[in-house]
Amino acid sequence: MFFGHGTDNARDEAAELVFFVAKLDHALGASAYPQLLNARQLARIESLLQARIRRRIPLAYLTQRAFFAGMQLYVDSRVLVPRSPIAELALARFRPWVEPRRVRRIADIGTGSGAIALACAQAFPRAQVDALDISRDALHVCRRNIRRLGLTGRVHARLSDHLDAVPGNRYDIVVSNPPYVGRAEMRTLPREYRHEPALGLASGSDGLDSVRVILRQARSHLSDHGILVVEVGNTERVLLKTWPHLRFLWPAFEHGGGGVFVLHAQDLDSPEELSERVRE
Ligand SMILES: C[S@@+](CC[C@H](N)C(=O)[O-])C[C@H]1O[C@@H](n2cnc3c(N)ncnc32)[C@H](O)[C@@H]1O
Repeated sequence: MFFGHGTDNARDEAAELVFFVAKLDHALGASAYPQLLNARQLARIESLLQARIRRRIPLAYLTQRAFFAGMQLYVDSRVLVPRSPIAELALARFRPWVEPRRVRRIADIGTGSGAIALACAQAFPRAQVDALDISRDALHVCRRNIRRLGLTGRVHARLSDHLDAVPGNRYDIVVSNPPYVGRAEMRTLPREYRHEPALGLASGSDGLDSVRVILRQARSHLSDHGILVVEVGNTERVLLKTWPHLRFLWPAFEHGGGGVFVLHAQDLDSPEELSERVRE
């Protein structure tokens, strides 16, 4: 079994499974433990458990829900299970890298379920958020979450190859958890990941195809005080070798995870720094 879809251990997944079937609120915590389950609930838990164990289906697809930045989202296999550590940065309103009161426009590239776009909308109640994705399927799920959270007036799901569909727009924050898994690593991923859309994971031979486009497009879509925030996971090492002169900042996370960089708009001004070092 592999635990990498929002939990990192069997116990938390088991708790979510039981709380889901018994329709218990996680806020109840241990006070819910004495509750007895009926035969129908036990049978349902058993059947979901079998799907999780035998077919290695991520639990979030079985329950069709995921928790992210304090929100409950609808998910299914059309979108990656939301788990980005960027949630923590959104909850902290991306301080100290931006002045929250100046944030009026945000773009989330590769929005999937809309998780990051929606977390940003909650963190910045006066901001408009473009939730961009190249997958129509993902955008269906994203729109469903936008409606569920009552954010249709401020979060706009748009079909877009990176920032192509929003020419001329300038944002105070461009954020992305793009696909960043290289070809060799794709072949070694645990079975759980094969249930997720490959479009959400695979990104060329070194995993940096999407990041390349984002770095190229970002400056002309950022306001002068804007920031670019991108998750690259363990592709961080290749990234640092490819762009040795870019002034990446690497936030530390209290709740686990890493591999997220922050760049200020002015760090993207110089074409030399943006040029790639040719790798041997
Ligand atoms: C790693 S998933 C992240 C989903 C979501 N942001 C999250 O954190 O849960 C990457 C997303 O990027 C989308 N994507 C892949 N290529 C893209 C492209 N060229 N332009 C826009 N989105 C793209 C995929 O459809 C997928 O939804």
